[in-house]
Amino acid sequence: MAQKDVGNKIPIYKLKKTDEVMRYYDDWGEENKYDKDMLDWNYTGPKETTETFIKYQKNLDAKIYDAGCGTGLVGVELKKYGYKNFYGADLSKKLLDLVPENLYKKLDQVDLNKPINEESNKYDAVLCVGTFTFGHVKPPALDEFIRITKDKGHICFTINEGIHEEYGFDKKIDQLKNDKKWKEIEFFKSNYIASKDVNAWLGLYEVIK
Ligand SMILES: C[S@@+](CC[C@H](N)C(=O)[O-])C[C@H]1O[C@@H](n2cnc3c(N)ncnc32)[C@H](O)[C@@H]1O
Repeated sequence: MAQKDVGNKIPIYKLKKTDEVMRYYDDWGEENKYDKDMLDWNYTGPKETTETFIKYQKNLDAKIYDAGCGTGLVGVELKKYGYKNFYGADLSKKLLDLVPENLYKKLDQVDLNKPINEESNKYDAVLCVGTFTFGHVKPPALDEFIRITKDKGHICFTINEGIHEEYGFDKKIDQLKNDKKWKEIEFFKSNYIASKDVNAWLGLYEVIK
């Protein structure tokens, strides 16, 4: 798989360590550049993911964990549809500071490659958009997403197509299916950042407990 990039100053596929990723996003948040770039590039990840999620979760009070929420673009989409009970977590303090006031119930600075400091079976859904990409969050995070999600809850995420196999997301997803930890509801190639020829898989899974 060719390593496609969004043309930022450091190629995203070169990011390896968590502190490099944190600095990368802290810099990208300067003068709201991240949001401006996403608008310019017609980044559709948050919209496509939310549109997929709302087909299966009709309860507007559902408790949702936005894993890797960044500046809150997923929260903006959720709010459009009337959801109001969502919580955000991200590595970059700079991006968290850019989330619009009162959009999320709570925001936490979290490294999703570590155990998540949340009770088991707490959420009706975990959404994770744009965060499974080069050097970011690795497949074991899916175990944690399942742990904090209730029985029959949903996990909906994108995976940059460039790392789907390279990082072993394909195998992890199959293993979770075989172990009956979740069942696949949707899995398809989304547009994501089509303007930059960067695509992602979009999956929605129902948790089995
Ligand atoms: C492409 S952005 C997506 C942000 C947001 N979900 C969106 O769609 O605009 C990727 C996000 O993953 C976050 N991230 C990267 N590594 C992380 C980690 N180990 N733990 C938590 N968040 C991480 C970054 O800070 C960044 O906000």
